[in-house]
Amino acid sequence: DDEASVSITVVGASGDLAKKKIFPALFALYYEGCLPKHFSIFGYARSKMTDAELRDMVSKTLTCRIDKRENCSEKMEEFLKRCFYHSGQYDSEEDFKELGKKIKQHEGPRVSNHLFYLSIPPNIFLDVVKCASKSASSVSGWTRVIVEKPFGRDSESSAALTKGLKQYLTEDQIFRIDHYLGKELVENLSVLRFSNLVFEPLWSRQYIRNVQLIFSEDFGTEGRGGYFDSYGIIRDIMQNHLLQILALFAMETPISLEAEDIRNEKVKVLRSMKPLRLEDVVIGQYKSHTKGGITYPGYTEDKTVPKGSLTPTFAAAALFINNARWDGVPFLMKAGKALHTKQAEIRVQFRHVPGNLYKGSFGTDLDRATNELVIRVQPDEGIYLKINNKIPGLGMRLDRSNLNLHYAARYPKEIPDAYERLLLDAIEGERRLFIRSDELDAAWELFTPLLKELEQKRMAPELYPYGSRGPVGAHYLAAKYNVRWGDLG
Ligand code: BG6
Repeated sequence: DDEASVSITVVGASGDLAKKKIFPALFALYYEGCLPKHFSIFGYARSKMTDAELRDMVSKTLTCRIDKRENCSEKMEEFLKRCFYHSGQYDSEEDFKELGKKIKQHEGPRVSNHLFYLSIPPNIFLDVVKCASKSASSVSGWTRVIVEKPFGRDSESSAALTKGLKQYLTEDQIFRIDHYLGKELVENLSVLRFSNLVFEPLWSRQYIRNVQLIFSEDFGTEGRGGYFDSYGIIRDIMQNHLLQILALFAMETPISLEAEDIRNEKVKVLRSMKPLRLEDVVIGQYKSHTKGGITYPGYTEDKTVPKGSLTPTFAAAALFINNARWDGVPFLMKAGKALHTKQAEIRVQFRHVPGNLYKGSFGTDLDRATNELVIRVQPDEGIYLKINNKIPGLGMRLDRSNLNLHYAARYPKEIPDAYERLLLDAIEGERRLFIRSDELDAAWELFTPLLKELEQKRMAPELYPYGSRGPVGAHYLAAKYNVRWGDLG
């Protein structure tokens, strides 16, 4: 048969991301029958390793979904047989030429497509792209490159990186990953908004009081301090993951579901945002805390973190969109490490019911009586709407109850990992969930002045204990806009 083949090279094959996410996602796609018939996977890194050693390393990270346990090990064997390793330097055209030859051997005469996944630190992106595009790109089919953040650390460095990449690749070949876009509930945002009559008409300043985008992790930067310290939580989570969610949440209806139409709308929202002011931002850093006899180390006690670092591990911010739909509505973001829980959610708080007949029927204050829509991105995916309801009985008392869509109950099938969706899209050339360069520019434009100011003024983060709910400053920030964080009850 003359079906095209695809060769996927994971550059940085022995790194954490490759082991934890990329290989397992490729295997899951294989298991589901989603990979093209003719495919090969190449691991590329500096260390010496044989194919067998790579397979051994990869095999330890592969799992089968709970509902797909049968013939799992057989499938793994088949998959591993199609994984190969090539050791080489990241800046050697010679080494990439050798890789190119190896790829060619496996492809045979058919049309071949090449996908490179750069799972490497950003300072070597350009070297790899240069060598790969010159020495290992496809002659007969397409060549695509997936890159992971950090895409620079501010507008200038990001623009320089884009310019560098475009010496060797066209925009069409660059797939910038923001893995939050591959999460089921983030993808569902547009479905929720645009295919349900009951939501879209309410989706504006007229009915929405505020929107909250919340990310928390219950562990610190343990071991990742080297990377994290030069970026901080604003660059690590807000400028990309939370801002992308905001864009999808707030954008106007796209002309169609085509990638360019959607991304055009996202760019429009990002470019309509008001500059972020220092007084609308709170930063924090976790400090050591002892609980139940265990002492959790503070951020600066991590050996990979420079002493006296002011890098924020927590941030909260109030953002505003200057357009007719959202004028005056606070979009509150909150992101932090070493907090009391691990979760990501979107909370939409609706306005009060004007002239509410039932004002006196709540046990609690009125503030709690407004509707709230919660989209729980993770863990335990779900969507629920808090509504006011009569407590059954002879009296007239109201409470707030949930109309609840609990994914585990409604859709028992395990949800694919974000990387599965994104890798599949990259193979299929679907760009909807990848970041276009003008989107990236707009995202940096919003955050760069703030980041510079924080650094120039050497703003000290407010310390919060490891495992706590974060600095109290976040409450004051919300209170300034008459908002109460929904995740804190
Ligand atoms: C990454 C950040 O982009 O996202 C990490 O660099 C963070 O700091 C991770 O831990 C969170 O991803 P997830 O999918 O586990 O929520």
